[in-house]
Amino acid sequence: MYNSKISGAGHYLPEKVYTNNDLTKFFETSDEWITERTGIKERRISEAEKNEYPSTMAAHAAKMALKNANLEPNDIDFILFSSTMSDYNFPNSATLVQDLLGITNHCGCLDVNSACTGWIYAMVMANSLIENGTYKNILVIGSETTSSYNNWLDRSKCVLFGDAAGAVILSRSDNDKSKFHANFLQSDSTKKEDLIKKSGMARDPFFVDKENPDLVEMNGQAVFKAAVKTMAHQCAALLEKTGTTKEEIDLFIPHQANLRIIEAVARRFEFPKEKVMINVQKYANTSSATIPVALSEALIEGRLKRGDKLLLTTFGSGLTSATLLLTY
Ligand code: UT7
Repeated sequence: MYNSKISGAGHYLPEKVYTNNDLTKFFETSDEWITERTGIKERRISEAEKNEYPSTMAAHAAKMALKNANLEPNDIDFILFSSTMSDYNFPNSATLVQDLLGITNHCGCLDVNSACTGWIYAMVMANSLIENGTYKNILVIGSETTSSYNNWLDRSKCVLFGDAAGAVILSRSDNDKSKFHANFLQSDSTKKEDLIKKSGMARDPFFVDKENPDLVEMNGQAVFKAAVKTMAHQCAALLEKTGTTKEEIDLFIPHQANLRIIEAVARRFEFPKEKVMINVQKYANTSSATIPVALSEALIEGRLKRGDKLLLTTFGSGLTSATLLLTY
């Protein structure tokens, strides 16, 4: 039985920025409405002309993670790729990343789709593969181009989302300081209709309905309430299960979907502001990329150090939810 540690992290953000004011040119909205309801001020948008796709953005993030981990591409022996929409139906985007990184060792490549929670799901899977000795270095990616399937005429949803990629390398640790403590991976299928995208897949592969291009269907208030309740409950239960006090948590990174959701969850734990990582104002909800991007930024900003206790929590379509406690 081995322990795993995060040996490197990286992220990639498309250059193109849409501010709230930019969106007022497309439909009736306002900076005031978006800021008040969500805390979001701007989001990044991928561009085909810049070759920004889930796999290509992920490759940029992965190169940064490799550099920070001091590893070569061929040191990676497995790739897990989380996205709500991979580049193609097949081959998977993990394989495309293997190619883009120049990895020639034929390492295993797997895409994971658990919507916004996919990256934590993938991290927990990666940890198991390291703990049991199967692999030494696993690249775990969250990469999203939500703008490619957002309906840009539906103001109630498109203002919430953005594009980004985050990557982490999980490595076998040579000591027992860094480790994963415990996690929750759950899904409540009774709420599956509250956040759903049906078009473009097996039941509706050639979706064309210009009159009603409702690509993402969401019951915003139901998702909001479930998000706060589930994340707060899982965090409390995980602390109790591991005998960890909230004072022992050095950094809390919740899913960056909405500032009001983050604040509601953090309030329940009375986490001081400096212990809560928040960047939703800059990037909006980048689905399964929010947490790896925030983690990478936290490292750059010096907010996360070796030996720190890190609490991660997220929720998404399913409604899935995932919470993870680890020592960095
Ligand atoms: O990863 C999971 C992703 N999903 C989420 O995180 C969603 C969670 N839910 C939320 O964040 C919130 O429910 C929203 C931000 C989506 C909406 O906030 P709300 O306080 O629940 O607003 P609402 O849906 O009740 O809408 C209120 C009003 C409506 O007008 P009327 O019917 O009251 O006249 C909407 O038409 O706001 C209107 N509205 C807008 N107005 C200006 C909706 N979108 C906009 C907009 N600009 N972009």
